Amino acid sequence: MRIIKAKTYGDMSRKAANVISAQVILKNNCVLGLATGATVLGIYQQLIEWYQKGDIDFSGARSVNLDEYVGLAGSHEQSYRHYMDTNFFQHINIKQENTHLPNGMTENIEEECDQYDALIESLGGIDLQLLGLGHKGHIGFNEPDEAFEKLTHCVRLKETTRKANARFFEKEDQVPKKAITMGIKSIMQAKRIVLCVSGAHKAEILNQVLTGPVTPALPGSILQMHPNLTVVADEEALHLL
Ligand code: F6R
Repeated sequence: MRIIKAKTYGDMSRKAANVISAQVILKNNCVLGLATGATVLGIYQQLIEWYQKGDIDFSGARSVNLDEYVGLAGSHEQSYRHYMDTNFFQHINIKQENTHLPNGMTENIEEECDQYDALIESLGGIDLQLLGLGHKGHIGFNEPDEAFEKLTHCVRLKETTRKANARFFEKEDQVPKKAITMGIKSIMQAKRIVLCVSGAHKAEILNQVLTGPVTPALPGSILQMHPNLTVVADEEALHLL
């Protein structure tokens, strides 16, 4: 595990964007595993800025996102497809057909999950998986559980997670009850993982995830076992380590 210490959120975003940029430069047709959420927004902004300056070319890149809500079409403002399009894809030259998220509108969830894992495999696996860290140590929508869910699967969202995400919806009851997420095995098979964490409110959970026992009660703790994990975090998030 490599820990890159950043001073601030902006510094963390730049450092993580540098790692992603290097990946895209080194392998033009790389497969990027991408995440949504607040933490990674600054990274996408930085990458867009460098793209606009002519420093990065995403024309060969492919992407697979970690997760998507069940029941939200890509046109829905709170869908992760919409988040990715508006916060990243529309501002760079990645080909839309090379960007992938689970289809939240599928009529056959099980088949969609199987196809998503098959898609990742057909792309040759993920070269770099970007991750944020959830408030309970979750990665993707892999929430605390009794066992590590391996492959892409459907999860019933815990009330605490729905509450945490309610800020993005008009009313709490509009927050979807289910999501499709890449599983722990799908994530752990990535050749490189970049975990980004910012802020004092994540310090305790980051400390547990990186130094505590590896347990499905804290899904992110499995990352300790990854042979190529880079943690990019700011001083506030790292102050207990
Ligand atoms: C997002 C995702 C989540 C977030 C995590 C952190 O695709 O899968 O695991 O990375 O909830 O979210 P923020 O960055 O908003 O604190």
